[in-house]
Amino acid sequence: MLRFDVLLYVENVSVPKKMRGRTPRWLWVGAGSGALLALAALSAALAWTSIFDSALANQLALTPNSRSFRTWVAPSVPLYFDIYFFNWTNSEKFPEEKPNLVQLGPYRFLEKRKHVNVTWHDNNGTVAYRTQRSWYFDESSSNGTLQDNITTLNGIAASAVYRSRFWGFLQQKGLAMGLAMFNQKIAVSKLARELLFEGYDDQLLNLAKSLPSSTTGGAPPVDKFGWFYERNNSLDTDGYMEVTTGRAAGTIPGQIMRWNYEDHIPYYEGECAQLAGSAGEFMPRNLTEESLLPMFVPDLCRTVYMEYVDTGEQDGLTFNKYALTQRSFDNSSSSPSNTCFCNGECAWSGVMNVSACRFGSPAFMTLPHFLHGDPQLRELVTGMQPDPDAHSFYFAVEPKLGVPLDVAARFQLNLYLEPSENIGLYEDVPRMLFPIFWVEQRVKVEDDVIAELRLVRAIFDWGGTVCACAALVFAILVTMATCWARKPHTIKKESLFEKPKDEAELKLNPI
Ligand SMILES: *[C@@H]1O[C@H](CO)[C@@H](O)[C@H](O)[C@H]1NC(C)=O
Ligand SMILES: *[C@@H]1O[C@H](CO)[C@@H](O)[C@H](O)[C@H]1NC(C)=O
Ligand SMILES: *[C@@H]1O[C@H](CO)[C@@H](O)[C@H](O)[C@H]1NC(C)=O
Ligand SMILES: *[C@@H]1O[C@H](CO)[C@@H](O)[C@H](O)[C@H]1NC(C)=O
Ligand SMILES: *[C@@H]1O[C@H](CO)[C@@H](O)[C@H](O)[C@H]1NC(C)=O
Ligand SMILES: *[C@@H]1O[C@H](CO)[C@@H](O)[C@H](O)[C@H]1NC(C)=O
Ligand SMILES: *[C@@H]1O[C@H](CO)[C@@H](O)[C@H](O)[C@H]1NC(C)=O
Ligand SMILES: *[C@@H]1O[C@H](CO)[C@@H](O)[C@H](O)[C@H]1NC(C)=O
Repeated sequence: MLRFDVLLYVENVSVPKKMRGRTPRWLWVGAGSGALLALAALSAALAWTSIFDSALANQLALTPNSRSFRTWVAPSVPLYFDIYFFNWTNSEKFPEEKPNLVQLGPYRFLEKRKHVNVTWHDNNGTVAYRTQRSWYFDESSSNGTLQDNITTLNGIAASAVYRSRFWGFLQQKGLAMGLAMFNQKIAVSKLARELLFEGYDDQLLNLAKSLPSSTTGGAPPVDKFGWFYERNNSLDTDGYMEVTTGRAAGTIPGQIMRWNYEDHIPYYEGECAQLAGSAGEFMPRNLTEESLLPMFVPDLCRTVYMEYVDTGEQDGLTFNKYALTQRSFDNSSSSPSNTCFCNGECAWSGVMNVSACRFGSPAFMTLPHFLHGDPQLRELVTGMQPDPDAHSFYFAVEPKLGVPLDVAARFQLNLYLEPSENIGLYEDVPRMLFPIFWVEQRVKVEDDVIAELRLVRAIFDWGGTVCACAALVFAILVTMATCWARKPHTIKKESLFEKPKDEAELKLNPI
């Protein structure tokens, strides 16, 4: 390339006759521009990190026509949603015997995710949207079918009893009668599909629907009960979100600004009400081992902070792994800043009370098998086998670029039980969290993305060095040019090419 340029130059330029023998003006011009180039390359080498970062920021920012936006609005990465149920095999002997829970699953669903109702707010650098998620059962890679008959805690009765816990004697007795009349038991046996998306009918629900909501303790009027009932294709599952576009300097895209039209989380007080963190797709760049990774998780109705746990390598790309640890949702004993998440008693460590954002139902989230939770939680049931490899909640992120490579979002839904002296069915139940199911969402980026990231990472790592070398080359050339210019011009003709017009020209104008 360089030689070719030289040849072109040699052939096309004819030096005016009067300049021969004196220092040619073009030499000074060449030396001057060489010096400028050397300076430019030097500054690029010194400022490489920030140059690279702003170029990357530009690439990642969400704008209506960016590639970043196209992959964000309708992600093509296959996303699996695995559900594991706990089958309660000794429900007739409750509460004399500890519940024995046998894990079933996974019931695997392919999840299709789309961001819809996308509205750009150019005035404040945000984009508003809703997430529409659709699920398709993947029978061939599931361990079980949707026809499996599963025995679990009766969620309808448990919720009704929990909602009545501050009622007066007569009202509680009324509920007790209702439960007896509709033949409600402590456990139910239902098919997997009914417990999941399809839902099942229940007379108690029909009754609740016909009563004014002031008398049902805030139970939503629904006609069926299922853990994911009416969530398929719904625009309300994750709610309305507003995230940053990352177009303004120094901001990252995809950070939550508003959720359901609010700029805070209505269910908590103080610091815990703060709406912050990534909405799941974009991570901060330039992460270190000290970084906390904040993530807003709509299913948990809160922001969780992941801590650095490990460094690893995937196909030659190094990643930092950030996970929910014991401290992430501990009660006050080791992280006082979490107390405001308790909403009342901080009974057990490692538990999130999401009751307030689940219409007052006794829903409590933990990691699967009570991983990192209070040991007492595990002792109240049999069958819990926490395993950090299988049950942790983590993001493995390329730290400089902030791109997630491997994500496992996992949590377990539990129902809270406590004795209720006026409701016969619940008179003797222990105070416990009853595990119902746990879910896992796993995303691993594909090999071609890894290859692309490796290239970008190499540009980041070596770009500074390349610029520094370029600066050095220019500096040497300029020095040589200056030396030539100062010499008296008594040039012997020596041929490097067939008919050189001027040797100085040849050597000094390769650019
Ligand atoms: C769940 O447990 C019940 C009661 O022990 C049993 O009858 C049923 O077959 C179990 N279900 C599955 C899918 O194993
Ligand atoms: C499938 O489920 C059964 C319990 O129903 C369990 O014993 C078995 O280990 C599971 N297999 C896999 C591959 O997960
Ligand atoms: C939001 O998107 C859905 C599905 O694309 C559409 O049916 C609905 O009309 C949209 N709503 C608004 C307010 O744009
Ligand atoms: C941004 O502006 C839009 C409309 O102009 C407004 O609805 C939205 O609440 C604003 N968002 C934030 C985070 O201020
Ligand atoms: C979700 O809805 C789609 C149709 O939009 C349907 O094909 C799919 O089977 C539904 N999934 C479940 C789990 O019901
Ligand atoms: C599920 O199993 C229970 C007993 O374990 C039985 O009473 C019920 O009829 C079964 N349900 C279905 C739909 O087969
Ligand atoms: C990245 O982190 C390093 C060390 O923590 C810091 O010196 C540097 O300024 C950061 N760069 C950017 C672009 O944030
Ligand atoms: C869970 O939170 C709700 C309100 O958000 C509160 O009323 C309830 O007492 C809490 N439950 C426990 C067991 O702490």
